Amino acid sequence: MKKYTSLDDITDLKELIAEARELKKNPYAFEELGKRKRLVMLFFNSSLRTRLSTEKAACNLGMDVTVMNFNSDAWKLEFEDGTVMDADTSEHIKEAAKVISQYGDVIAVRAFPTLTDKAKDESEYVISNFVKYASVPVVNMESATAHPLQALADAITITELSQKKKPKVVLSWAPHPKALPHAVANSFIGMMQKMDVEFTVTHPEGYELSDTTIQDTSVEYNQDKALEDADFVYVKNWSSYKDYGKVSATPETHKDWTITPKKLGSAKFMHCLPVRRNVIVADEVLDGENSIVIEQANNRTFSAQVVLKKILENAS
Ligand code: CP
Repeated sequence: MKKYTSLDDITDLKELIAEARELKKNPYAFEELGKRKRLVMLFFNSSLRTRLSTEKAACNLGMDVTVMNFNSDAWKLEFEDGTVMDADTSEHIKEAAKVISQYGDVIAVRAFPTLTDKAKDESEYVISNFVKYASVPVVNMESATAHPLQALADAITITELSQKKKPKVVLSWAPHPKALPHAVANSFIGMMQKMDVEFTVTHPEGYELSDTTIQDTSVEYNQDKALEDADFVYVKNWSSYKDYGKVSATPETHKDWTITPKKLGSAKFMHCLPVRRNVIVADEVLDGENSIVIEQANNRTFSAQVVLKKILENAS
């Protein structure tokens, strides 16, 4: 693996999941692989799981880690070519990415979308410029449109916990007071399209995702109907894609989309976290035995570890 910025960087998903599960059983088996190699993690946005699990994954492989909160600690970056930099940006991505490549053997980047400029977000201007100008592999820790490390952890979790050869998986939109990105939903959908599952997406009208994401995936506007006989229910909010970055007029709108024990039935409840209790999902679901969010978060380590392992093996 030369980089991991999208699901397109996966060549053999089954093999990758199997290898991640082996690493989970024996996390220090490759602790010599990353010796004297450094992962540089750059955060343009907040994180709990991604930061801690990716650092743990790198340490399990014997790597050293540097973390930088870019917005508070670094010079403000310019991404446009040919700009006269006489305003608030102090350093161009061209120099920054090349310089950081001298300090790290792998660069991991988290950079959320603007949710105001669709074209800019879809160009993935932050991560694509790191890929363009860095001379070392780049890993996506959630970009404007994708969260492939999360999707790989989700795939590991479903594979581990499925009691059926072809489980029914539903991705359900749920309410949220703020405008959230499409990245988690996009990557989860892309991952389910690669897996042997019966898959449906459900959301209220107005929350349709891009055609590029949905492709031929079934979309059901009736949430109760979509959830019938589900084995795994993955819940996530996203803002409107068509009316880009907008949310419903009031927090009460679509309140009936909150996941309750009755809606979940006997299905397993999944969420990438962080999650707003009693907005996205009722306490009883999160605290109940069908919630697998903690196992799902644990798999973030092995998703990151298998990706870093593949990248280190390719570089050696
Ligand atoms: N799921 C996830 O990416 O969590 P963090 O935002 O806390 O990293």
